[in-house]
This record gives sequence, structure tokens and C-alpha cells, in this order.
Amino acid sequence: MSADSFSKWLALREPADTAARSAALTEAIVAALPPDRPLRILDLGSGTGSNVRYLSSRLPAPQHWLLVDRDPDLLAEASGRSANCQIETLGRNLGAPDSLANLADPPLFPGRHLVTASALLDLVSDQWLRALAGHCRAIGAAALFTLNYNGRSRCAPSEAEDDAIRDLMNRHQRTSDNGFGLAAGPDAVDCAERWFAAVGYQVRRAASDWILLPDERELQRQLIEGWAQAAGEISPEQTSMIHDWLARRLAHVEAGRSRVIVGHEDLAAWLA
Ligand SMILES: C[S@@+](CC[C@H](N)C(=O)[O-])C[C@H]1O[C@@H](n2cnc3c(N)ncnc32)[C@H](O)[C@@H]1O
Repeated sequence: MSADSFSKWLALREPADTAARSAALTEAIVAALPPDRPLRILDLGSGTGSNVRYLSSRLPAPQHWLLVDRDPDLLAEASGRSANCQIETLGRNLGAPDSLANLADPPLFPGRHLVTASALLDLVSDQWLRALAGHCRAIGAAALFTLNYNGRSRCAPSEAEDDAIRDLMNRHQRTSDNGFGLAAGPDAVDCAERWFAAVGYQVRRAASDWILLPDERELQRQLIEGWAQAAGEISPEQTSMIHDWLARRLAHVEAGRSRVIVGHEDLAAWLA
């Protein structure tokens, strides 16, 4: 996907993300933040800054944010669009060549009160999450990771192949490498909980499912096409079944009768 179309995809999903996020976990993180001001926040895989736009009005001011992403065009957009707080951006591949070295890089972690990311954890590996937990612990930061895909999606009206396609999509995620090592995919929140708890954090999780209604046609269409593409890549021998399924699912969308739930989870972690 080009940077321009990826930016459009992020814009399309932002209202669904905002509606889905756990307000309770955001409040728990606010309560766990220290009284120091300004708050220094690190946002990983920032994209065009959706996480800043959601959190900045809900966290105590003043705030200083460092937004990190490998895509400089998305970061430039984030700087232009973002909210009422101080924003710095850093273009960096957070995964390569040595994820531990990258995460330990001095400008990223020291002095941060909160380390956060939205829609990122399912892209990273178990070992990367282990390193992340260690770096958060070393600086005593709270952590909030939202909108992590958990592998549990459902469509209505149902089609016989829905479960098979979802399983192929989940397999595709687990065999992807976005530069962080093999992706944790739907297991990411379990992995993150394990590593943060292992270094002494209290961890809370909450559902943040997308609940897409029939009038959210464009988001549903792009989502379903993405699932079909992933399924076809992991199992080319089932291309014909996948195309048939895609045609029927898109017909439901176009007819305004399609509902889709995409399972996500938020995770918050803090030191007692
Ligand atoms: C699904 S998007 C989420 C963007 C944003 N946090 C949001 O919620 O809209 C994942 C982001 O992670 C970034 N990303 C993926 N792999 C990366 C890597 N290896 N290093 C740095 N950023 C990466 C992508 O460029 C993208 O902006």
C-alpha cells in the first residue's frame, strides 16, 4: 500500500478506533501517571497521530509527545494535524536491524512517563514485546497499548466460509514479519501481559472491538478485501473459494445488510 493510501486507510478507521477504545483503561492510566509535569509520552508506530488525537484531551496537560514511525510521510501528517500539545517526531524503523538496540536508543525511553501505541502490538514479535516491557520497567513508565487485533472477528449475515477465512487471515498474521521478527498477531496481548507482569507491572485488559454497522460500507469493504487478500496469500490453492466468499460478503455490504465485529483488546500496565 502506498503512503497516501495507507494514510487514507488510517483516516477511514480512526472513527471506529475512537468508538472502540476502552475509556476505563484510559482513566486507569490517567490515575497511574505521576504528578510530574509536563507529561513526557512516547508513542510507537504513530502513523498520522490517531493515538495523540485521542489521548491528548484525556491526559493532564501540559504534554510533550515523541511520535516514532518508520514512515516519514505519515509523521509529517501527524505533526500538521495534531492536537493541543507539544509534538516531536522521529522517523525510525523500530524493528531493524537489532530491535533490542533500537529500543534502547537513548532518545526514545529515558524520562518518559507513558509509553503507548495504538494498533501496533499485533504487528510485533513476542521477543520485541519482552524487550519493550524491560525498557518500560527500566524507566518506570506506565504503558497503554490499544486496539490490538485478537483474532476473533464475526460477520453477519454469516457465510459458511467465514471461519475458514478468519483462520487463514490469522495464520497470515502469525507468519508476517514487519521488521520486528515473526508477528505475535492475535496472541500479542497475551504475550504483552506475560512480559509486563514478569517485570512487576499490574496489568489490565479490556475489549475494544470494532462494531461496524451497515452504513460503514467503505471501512467494511476495505477490511473484507484485506482479509481476502491475506487469505489468498497464505493459501493460494483456495483462491476460488476465497473469491466466491468475497463476492458474497461484498454483496452484503453493498446491500446495506452487513455487520462486522473485529475483535480488539486494549492493555494498560503500571507499577504499583
Ligand atoms: C496499523 S498502523 C497504526 C498507526 C497509528 N498508531 C494509528 O492507530 O492510527 C501501524 C503503524 O506502525 C508503523 N510501523 C510498522 N512497522 C514499523 C516498524 N518496523 N518501525 C516503525 N514503525 C512501524 C506503520 O508505519 C504504521 O504507521
